[in-house]
Amino acid sequence: MAAAMLIAACTPAPKLNPQAELASPDGKLKMTFSIDAEGSPYYELECDGTAVILPSRLGFEMRGTVKAEELTYDGERPGKVDARPPFSLFDGFTVTGIDTDSFDETWEPVWGEEAQIRNHYNELLVHLSKDEGQRLLDIRFRLFDDGLGLRYEFPSGQKDSYLCIKEELTEFAMADDATCWWIPGDYDTQEYEYTECRISEIGKHFRDKMRGNSSQTLFSHTGIQTSVQMHLQNGLWVNIHEAALVDFPCMHLEADCARHSFRAWLTPDAQGYKGNVQTPAVSPWRTVQVARSATDQLASRLVLNLNEPCAIEDVSWIHPVKYMGVWWEMIAGASSWNYTDDFQSVKLGVTDYSSAKPNGRHGANNEKVRSYIDFAAANGFDAVLVEGWNIGWEDWANCDKDYVFDFQTPYPDFDIQALNDYAHSKGIRLVMHHETSSSPRNYERHLEAAYSLMNRYGYDAVKSGYVGDILPQGMFHYNQWMVNHYLYCITEAARHHIMVNAHEAVRPTGLSRTWPNLIGNESAMGTEYQAFGGITPGHTAILPFTRLNGGPMDYTPGIFEPNLKEWCGNDSWVNSTICGQLALYVTMYSPLQMAADTPEHYSRFPDAFQFIKDVAVDWEQSRYLFAEPMHYLIAARKSKGDGQWFCGGVTDGEQRTFNVPLNFLEPGRYEATVYADAPDAHFKNNPQAYEIKTIEVSATDSIEVTMAPGGGFAISFKKI
Ligand code: NOJ
Ligand code: CA
Repeated sequence: MAAAMLIAACTPAPKLNPQAELASPDGKLKMTFSIDAEGSPYYELECDGTAVILPSRLGFEMRGTVKAEELTYDGERPGKVDARPPFSLFDGFTVTGIDTDSFDETWEPVWGEEAQIRNHYNELLVHLSKDEGQRLLDIRFRLFDDGLGLRYEFPSGQKDSYLCIKEELTEFAMADDATCWWIPGDYDTQEYEYTECRISEIGKHFRDKMRGNSSQTLFSHTGIQTSVQMHLQNGLWVNIHEAALVDFPCMHLEADCARHSFRAWLTPDAQGYKGNVQTPAVSPWRTVQVARSATDQLASRLVLNLNEPCAIEDVSWIHPVKYMGVWWEMIAGASSWNYTDDFQSVKLGVTDYSSAKPNGRHGANNEKVRSYIDFAAANGFDAVLVEGWNIGWEDWANCDKDYVFDFQTPYPDFDIQALNDYAHSKGIRLVMHHETSSSPRNYERHLEAAYSLMNRYGYDAVKSGYVGDILPQGMFHYNQWMVNHYLYCITEAARHHIMVNAHEAVRPTGLSRTWPNLIGNESAMGTEYQAFGGITPGHTAILPFTRLNGGPMDYTPGIFEPNLKEWCGNDSWVNSTICGQLALYVTMYSPLQMAADTPEHYSRFPDAFQFIKDVAVDWEQSRYLFAEPMHYLIAARKSKGDGQWFCGGVTDGEQRTFNVPLNFLEPGRYEATVYADAPDAHFKNNPQAYEIKTIEVSATDSIEVTMAPGGGFAISFKKI
């Protein structure tokens, strides 16, 4: 500790020459832009006179030029060298102009946590030039009441039109040694549990929550991912993330633990370079949200506001989806994605499935899918996801297999026409599944045909997935090439009027404002891990601060039978009570909500299942009532359309009691149905114990709820 403070004290503070100040519309946040003696740009941020971000450097180190290689013939073998030296876009600058602007609009998302969102900011655009105008860089700052967005703009008219980034140098020097909630920086996965510790202790705790994944590339024992939530010792809540990640690598953060500071760390390409830019171009926004309370952070829409308005003219085909799926039984191991155990290796177009022996465990069979459709229709769902419907699952994972799926040919026991006809006759849509096995070139090869097939049979939503290392080898899930792939799929899907829910894709950065057909992502540890060893209670009380900051998650809640051993021989235990699962439909916002368990398990608890049937998926208003990251979170939401209110809360491994004020309700009397953990409920030894009661309430009342360890509660209100 003493050594860390010594290092921090010895780091010389830059001598800054302030150039411009920017205030938030309410005047509480102030950003200062400066240049130091070497011509390096800096910014700093304060809130009500209290430091949030200390002077922090901006800029890039660039690779010499795009085509920078020269052959060499020294020694025995020919080789290649980078012939042009890197150059700096971080010093030697002069400020050639500063523009200011302000903006205030209220826009209506196609779906969301509220029907209207205010986008109100003041703006500063700084023009920088060096080498007599041969190198140009603009930096645009937007200061909102709830934080700062800054992005780089690479103007045309400079020496090179094509630039290659070696390193982004953006710093976030935090005002103090904040408590932070983070997952390890990784170029390939976000499927981790969170760690809570001081910035100075990140390195020490780096391995605490380490967990294996089919694709994993860590880069530093002090590297973390965004969105990272922090609580400064001065009391402010600060969150760092990025917005509008388009045609750029995803940003991680490298912590300087001693200085309580972070630096941008972009995901590299296969050669180690960190992004190609063709001028004119812009970077994604680097975001610093600032809130006075944890619940204010949850209400911040800064990341969405920094994205472009909706790019789809006719959005009438985009809608929220409540769905079930032939899914959990495969994840838990009760059935299989593959049709046969006969084949060790499959060659699409060559392997003959018609003579293969069915393994008797294939989930996506006609009879099973019909039974899910019947159950979903009888209980008011919109859709049924079916995984394992298409050929290729016998050798799909970890084989570095390029032509792994064709996304078009059903297994012999999946009658695509008849099942869609049956579903449609009952008011249900089937959700398509495209596991790409991280072979994006193969996916793009088949994309047009696969989406056309969906149009032909009447599928309007696809769940895609990127399990395993990316092919071509050396690429990462979050580098620029893959970021462009995910967006290409979303825009092509929009052309086909298809909604997308991409698993293992890059974490969202608010792009659903522009492309509202992106109705979900996984991009974090979801319920599937309850079947892969279990999830520590409290995980769902941090995700709304971090992962959900960029967009909704297909968390797949609703598991009612935690004892997987008894059900299907899986040693994992689902670490949640039934009420803890119900709460997630309110606390984890998503326009795409799954009831992930099986019809058989729901049929045993029809009274608790009623909440999942009733709860809305699209909202007029949302209120965050109580929250402490990773410990508890209570939210209330009013549904769009019928205006019905719902409330839900989750806790970590601690039992917690709250008196929930109902002042969010409008005047009048309501019938409240309260789904609460029974007094003796516990996620490990009594997870299915709950009590349901109906009481009459009004806005002046409050309801006392006790959440069991690993539990939660849910309430639905009906106007009387
Ligand atoms: C991982 C996804 O998260 C999961 O939902 C899916 O079932 C499997 N991959 C197979 O595609
Ligand atoms: Ca996953």
